[in-house]
Amino acid sequence: MPTICLIPGDGVGQEVIPAAARVLTTVAPDLAFVEAEAGWACFLRCGTALPDETLAAVAAADATLFGATQSPSTPVEGYRSPILALRQHFDLYANLRPTWTMLPGQPALDLLLVRENTECLYVGRERREGDAAIAERVITRRASQRIAHVAFQHARRRAQQPSASLATDSLPLTIGQSAVTVVHKANVLKLTDGLFREACLEVAQAYPDVRVNEMLVDAAAMWLVKNPGRFDVIVTTNLFGDILSDLAAGLVGGLGVAPSANVGAGRVAVFEPVHGSAPDIAGQGIANPVGAILSAAMLLDHIGRPEAARRVRSAVAETLACGTITPDLGGAASTDEVTAAVVRHASAQR
Ligand code: NAI
Ligand code: MG
Repeated sequence: MPTICLIPGDGVGQEVIPAAARVLTTVAPDLAFVEAEAGWACFLRCGTALPDETLAAVAAADATLFGATQSPSTPVEGYRSPILALRQHFDLYANLRPTWTMLPGQPALDLLLVRENTECLYVGRERREGDAAIAERVITRRASQRIAHVAFQHARRRAQQPSASLATDSLPLTIGQSAVTVVHKANVLKLTDGLFREACLEVAQAYPDVRVNEMLVDAAAMWLVKNPGRFDVIVTTNLFGDILSDLAAGLVGGLGVAPSANVGAGRVAVFEPVHGSAPDIAGQGIANPVGAILSAAMLLDHIGRPEAARRVRSAVAETLACGTITPDLGGAASTDEVTAAVVRHASAQR
């Protein structure tokens, strides 16, 4: 019986994680759940944003579903973003962010952004020197190579399987045409991104069946808006991946629908909607649960339940197609109504 650790966290995390857990229970009734704490409210109460008990629960579980946490924009003594800490503690070096067309009228796309999750400007080496502030950007060959392997392996897999996308019919990219785009800014960041680029292109040679190309990050941002259908798998460094994946989410309805996975070499994996605690809508019962529910689908794939994962994705597609959508997508449905619809569609597929 697989055990899933739930970490709702702050704000809308408290709303979307119970919703996703309801869907998981529907398609995989044998799952056991343990709940753990993390985040700002946890920090205020007990002095740490990521208690040892939470780390132990994540380590013991077969997978973790994480909601969102609120992080102050000014330094607070002793506070560190728990999701960054979790990624580093368990060396969850790959952040997988799939994006696909979800609603009519959206551009046709089906891409997977593979974001390096442990280094770049996120290593936490910032300092003030008088009126100057300096951040160190760390890129290593080892981290670049291992993230490149993840990207090429996923590209290979995507070429062999029908995609997770629910609206693939009109897509320009067909099965057998996998491609990895290495996104960087090596023309300016010659040493850091130069090393990332070099490592990725080296790794590419081990995957002759996967097409590889490269693009500067500014051009990639433009092409993602202008013609996102040209991308299959994108691999990039931490900060660029953070930004471009939100951009990609914006093409298909926004942060409310975007899922992600944090995976490493070991068994521990943490699945989370891309969005944060959304303080502007928290507590109103209108948070979109789709990002969390699709993250749960990625979790099901990870624990070896692809059929249950497929049911969840289809149920989400049917729910959206029926127009049961939250205000961020232009609808009027509540978190509960969307969740209930997904549960109903998932049950009907039995
Ligand atoms: P955010 O993702 O919380 O919100 C950005 C916008 O998207 C807001 O307008 C919000 O209402 C909307 N949105 C987000 N999730 C939604 C959902 N499920 N349904 C409908 N609309 C949704 O990002 P923001 O405002 O920049 O940050 C708020 C807090 O979240 C900050 O404290 C930040 O540090 C934290 N954060 C945490 C993350 C995490 O836990 N992984 C990731 C990003 C931000
Ligand atoms: Mg982000």
